[in-house]
Amino acid sequence: MKLESLLNVKYPIIQAGMANVSGHALAAAISNAGGLGTIGAGYMNSETLEQEILETNNLTDKPFAVNLFVPSNPTKDKNKITRAKALLEPYRTALGLKDLKIADTNETTDFNEKIDTVIKYNVPIVSFTFGIPTKATIEKLKSHNITLIGTATNLEEALLNELHGMDAVVLQGSEAGGHRGYFTNDKDTMIGLMAFIPEVVDELNIPVIAAGGIVDSRGIKATHALGAQGVQIGSLFLNTNESLAPTTHKQLMTKEIDHTVLTKVFSGKTARGINNIFIEEMKSYEDELPDYPLQNQLTSPIRKEAGLQKETGFLSLWKGQGRIKLQDDLSAEAVFKSLIN
Ligand SMILES: Cc1cc2nc3c(=O)[nH]c(=O)nc-3n(C[C@H](O)[C@H](O)[C@H](O)COP(=O)(O)O)c2cc1C
Repeated sequence: MKLESLLNVKYPIIQAGMANVSGHALAAAISNAGGLGTIGAGYMNSETLEQEILETNNLTDKPFAVNLFVPSNPTKDKNKITRAKALLEPYRTALGLKDLKIADTNETTDFNEKIDTVIKYNVPIVSFTFGIPTKATIEKLKSHNITLIGTATNLEEALLNELHGMDAVVLQGSEAGGHRGYFTNDKDTMIGLMAFIPEVVDELNIPVIAAGGIVDSRGIKATHALGAQGVQIGSLFLNTNESLAPTTHKQLMTKEIDHTVLTKVFSGKTARGINNIFIEEMKSYEDELPDYPLQNQLTSPIRKEAGLQKETGFLSLWKGQGRIKLQDDLSAEAVFKSLIN
């Protein structure tokens, strides 16, 4: 089936679900413009997700998606956690943060509650990263006619997505901003879209969606020529009025000299973003830090406070490799329209 029909959209352009960045305003604006908006619900609890879905429904009658993180439930290495806390203390002190309280959440329980929420509110499309949900979850969603989109960073992961019943798969090229969605092994192959798309379309029957470094219609046409039926775009939409990213982050997106790097220091999982002092100072400890999501929980208060204090040195400034140009009109609608010509 063609991707437009599968998603029921005019344009096969998906605004990436971006945790902490894409809420109801951005998702609804993109869906209203003819693309597929996505609520980035990776870090939300089910109550917040419920509110976000209701708000999105108030703003659009077009289809939208919810993006979720497949739980990984890593073993808690106490020594690594103690060490990471000590390494993070200077940043906490610099920001005036006091006691470190980490919410004792269970990834799987949270995830299952969010699955129930999307079913309750008839969300038509759910996308996943960091893995493939269990057979039971996939069957449950499918029994409610929900369209499922997975994420792959290599051919093996793309094949697994198809095998487990995903209706479409996002191919996340090495150019992509934000967290890498790999789940088959820790050695991310870092294949770029130019090689990745043809490799996968030769092997898969489900539609593939290209993600990474796409910032204009040329990128869309190029990925289409290679066999992708649609695109998923993050960084360009982060830089819109409707995105929830801190203004300081948005301002850096269009800086003349952009230098993105891959780092695990914020979350324990590799992600691409703009280099800063936190990444530079912490990079020599990268392999000693706790796995995702433990390190993410430890740095979360630092990132939140850094955002409030406009301290970009300690923020996770996720960005892909595509050059984002300055635009006068940064409404999501105008930015979306700039992609269509
Ligand atoms: C700020 C930011 C946050 C992101 N958060 C998520 C997320 O929550 N879930 C997800 O599946 N992908 C996430 N991604 C990755 C996107 O799905 C996509 O792979 C990436 O944005 C494509 O590259 P681009 O940023 O160059 O467009 C994020 C990307 C960015 C830039």
